[in-house]
Amino acid sequence: MSGFSGDWLSAREPVDLRARNANVRDAFVADVTARSATGPIRLLDLGAGTGATLRAFAPHVATPQAWRLAEYDPALIARARTLFSGERDIEVVEADLADGVPEALLEGVDAVTTSAFLDLVSAEWVAALARQLAGRRLPFLAMLSYDGRLSLAPSDPLDESIRAAMNAHQHGDKGFGPALGPQAADHTRDVFQAAGFRVVEGASDWEAERHEQAFQSMLVDGWAGAAREMAVDADELSRWHERRRHEIETERLVTRVGHRDLAALPG
Ligand SMILES: C[S@@+](CC[C@H](N)C(=O)[O-])C[C@H]1O[C@@H](n2cnc3c(N)ncnc32)[C@H](O)[C@@H]1O
Repeated sequence: MSGFSGDWLSAREPVDLRARNANVRDAFVADVTARSATGPIRLLDLGAGTGATLRAFAPHVATPQAWRLAEYDPALIARARTLFSGERDIEVVEADLADGVPEALLEGVDAVTTSAFLDLVSAEWVAALARQLAGRRLPFLAMLSYDGRLSLAPSDPLDESIRAAMNAHQHGDKGFGPALGPQAADHTRDVFQAAGFRVVEGASDWEAERHEQAFQSMLVDGWAGAAREMAVDADELSRWHERRRHEIETERLVTRVGHRDLAALPG
């Protein structure tokens, strides 16, 4: 189990969909389609969950595609296989990526994608991926990397402590060594540029509206849990949590979480 429930991935999918950066995606699509000869574009998605990258991406690409979805959580794999059963050009592959992307997964692939995954991995993991993709001259599209920005309206005096605690918590090891957390987008840009890629970047911030109560509740509960583990004062935290839950219930809270999308295109 990865700790990412299918219910959480379903709750975030519409917010992710609005957030994804169309300019970055289009730069990637133009590059990939220009490189591909004939036949479908073959894409590998890393940490695929139930296939949200594919669902977001496919409608914007005229060229047929064949997808390989790499995921290690058995429950998410089962859900993805059910969702895509009967689709001949979509394979869901069980793969633990903790030690890097196995070369076999890259065989026959034209481009690599990922969503909401790079903040979980380590700096060295991304550097190794950049070396692999440079060696194979494969374009890379990395969407929805958390970048450390967090703002809530109305604001609250404890928000900054929660944000700082959350960002520190994000560096915890998720199985890949110390996680990049909020540094994921900057680090990925730097290592891919150093490896010779042209990088196109753009914001992909979550903007959760007042009526998105289930999603906002999950967010606020998650932040409260992280802040508790990072030793934010328990009484202050519980009062903050209570205030935020009340604002969500009464449809008064708007939440923005900073993310970045990035396309790395071989030179
Ligand atoms: C935040 S979720 C994003 C899922 C999906 N890309 C999406 O946008 O909905 C991170 C995903 O990375 C997967 N993951 C975490 N560690 C992994 C590992 N060692 N190998 C493969 N996948 C992993 C999780 O199971 C989860 O599906």
